[in-house]
Amino acid sequence: MTQSRLLPRAGLALLAVMGSAALFGAAQSQTDRTHPVGKPLQDAGSFAAIGDASRRSAALFSEAGKVLQHPRCLNCHPPTRRPTQGETLRTHMPPIFAGGGEGAGAGVPGMPCATCHRTSNTPTLSAGVTSVPGAEHWSLAPISMAWQGKSLKEICEQIKDPARNGGRSLAQIRTHLAEDHLVGWAWHPGEGREPAPGTQAGFGGLIEAWIATGAHCPAN
Ligand code: HEC
Ligand code: HEC
Repeated sequence: MTQSRLLPRAGLALLAVMGSAALFGAAQSQTDRTHPVGKPLQDAGSFAAIGDASRRSAALFSEAGKVLQHPRCLNCHPPTRRPTQGETLRTHMPPIFAGGGEGAGAGVPGMPCATCHRTSNTPTLSAGVTSVPGAEHWSLAPISMAWQGKSLKEICEQIKDPARNGGRSLAQIRTHLAEDHLVGWAWHPGEGREPAPGTQAGFGGLIEAWIATGAHCPAN
């Protein structure tokens, strides 16, 4: 009896404490802000039962899509020269411009990204922002690499296209996805942010198997 009465009270007390943070637009949907956990990601071996290689290939890419279309990646791959934030891809606050034409993306002269984003995640004490994300060369992906609002089929075709992917071969795309540190940040995004699903190694394995089976794209 005591327990069932105590729980709601503890909940109310917690709400009162969190109230001020919520006013500043904290990520209200997250219940555990100190130890965020990513969603699961199947490994490449889980798709062995699909006999047809092109179907298996597309299925592997669809699984990898759980990472590619995760907010941790999408926030840096928007269709405009402005980054977005959080789980809902909201407008970056303060308003930020990537600057420097297509190839660039590290901010405008008066306000480079590095004004606030350091080479690693930085905890803050400010209400509503538990940490400022950071990694070396923090910058916005070029427009040709925009993924927000695109289907997995479109992202797949774009990633394979050297005219839009930074002149990369499929092998270089695999290396980038499996080893690049900016990509890797998505699994260590700092307090208050959900990491990308699975691990970067598991994601790299899916991409490797996708390429080995012909790099076929999903139907939508
Ligand atoms: C902090 C911003 C940032 C984050 C976070 C980020 N990227 Fe990128 N991404 C970039 C920039 C900048 C480039 C262009 C750099 C280059 O071409 O070398 C890029 C390029 C790429 C490319 C190569 C070009 C293309 O589109 O085919 C891939 C693939 C990619 N990112 C995947 C990812 C994935 C997957 C994630 C999440 C797990 C991710 N990125 C997270 C900034 C980011
Ligand atoms: C004046 C400070 C400031 C500048 C300059 C700045 N940012 Fe940010 N940025 C922040 C803060 C603070 C957050 C964390 C906000 C939060 O999580 O509520 C953030 C979050 C982000 C996120 C969201 C990460 C995620 O997945 O939630 C991205 C992406 C981002 N910034 C990219 C950039 C890029 C690219 C630039 C330069 C073109 C830049 N920012 C310049 C302060 C800044």
